[in-house]
Amino acid sequence: MGGGYAPNDIDLSDPVYEKILVKSPASIANLGPGFDILALAIEGLYDKVLVKPLKEPRIVVNADGAPPGRDNSAYAVAEHMLSRYCPNCGVVVHVWKGVPVSAGLGSSGATSAAVAYALNELYGLNLTTEELLEAAVEGEHLVSGARHYDNVAASLLGGLVIIGRHAGLGVLRLDPPDAWLGIVIMQSNERGKTGLARSLLPRDLDLQRHIAQTSAVASLLAAIHLNDPVLFGRAVSVDYVAEPVRKAMIPLYDELKATALREGALGFNISGAGPSVFIVHNDRGEAERIVRELVQLLSANGVSAESFVTSPSAEGVKVIDSD
Ligand code: HSE
Repeated sequence: MGGGYAPNDIDLSDPVYEKILVKSPASIANLGPGFDILALAIEGLYDKVLVKPLKEPRIVVNADGAPPGRDNSAYAVAEHMLSRYCPNCGVVVHVWKGVPVSAGLGSSGATSAAVAYALNELYGLNLTTEELLEAAVEGEHLVSGARHYDNVAASLLGGLVIIGRHAGLGVLRLDPPDAWLGIVIMQSNERGKTGLARSLLPRDLDLQRHIAQTSAVASLLAAIHLNDPVLFGRAVSVDYVAEPVRKAMIPLYDELKATALREGALGFNISGAGPSVFIVHNDRGEAERIVRELVQLLSANGVSAESFVTSPSAEGVKVIDSD
């Protein structure tokens, strides 16, 4: 039981338990070399989640733009939260998808972080960030079969997150870099897309690649520290783990990357598990021009995609009144 909370003491007729509405940002996981350890929350694409208590102990999940019930990441998160912290409680969760699904923009992570945060607020649980992440990651496990913390942490906390669990650091949030992100949004029809994209990954990495990969992660973090978008972009473009195998799932990947970098993008890589890709730029207009060109290249080859230019989001999940 967290925070000295006693579920049987809850009076559901108390107006404080009426409902909580939150919004939760999309995120770009991995950022090139930071597989499973780095992610960045972004502005402009949000899920909204409403939670309302039920008098009987059951979980109801409705969703606009995603499957309802047990197939929704929201269900796994609510189940974890209620079974652990409030076993006699019930809840109705309504999810409105604003983050495109199966695109590599942290859609399940945004919903999962939102549900953990909203239930913590609804029942006054006072859970720690770690406890909220442990709940939210159950949504990722449901969807991909893996407990990767990157997207849920970025959606929950905003900014750029470092998953420091291997160093005993929990999750670290840094202020986001000063850069524009141009995103070419593509959506996969593949069921279990993230699980499939993870199954392609190499089990081992040779020493030279390990050195190059860790050098790129270190450079990326130095770029944040120095607020250097050029270095940030260069570091983002490096990946010896996921990009070499996952690019096969993304139409025209090599051509997209070459075009983006030739046209002046500071960096380019796969967003999360893909298939969306992103560029880094220090000029918004240029970022818009380049991603439009990438979308045209795809469309000339029969692939439908959309472009979107945004900036990092300093904020993570937050309570909103409406809309
Ligand atoms: N780090 C995860 C992966 C993010 O690349 O599989 C998935 O959204």
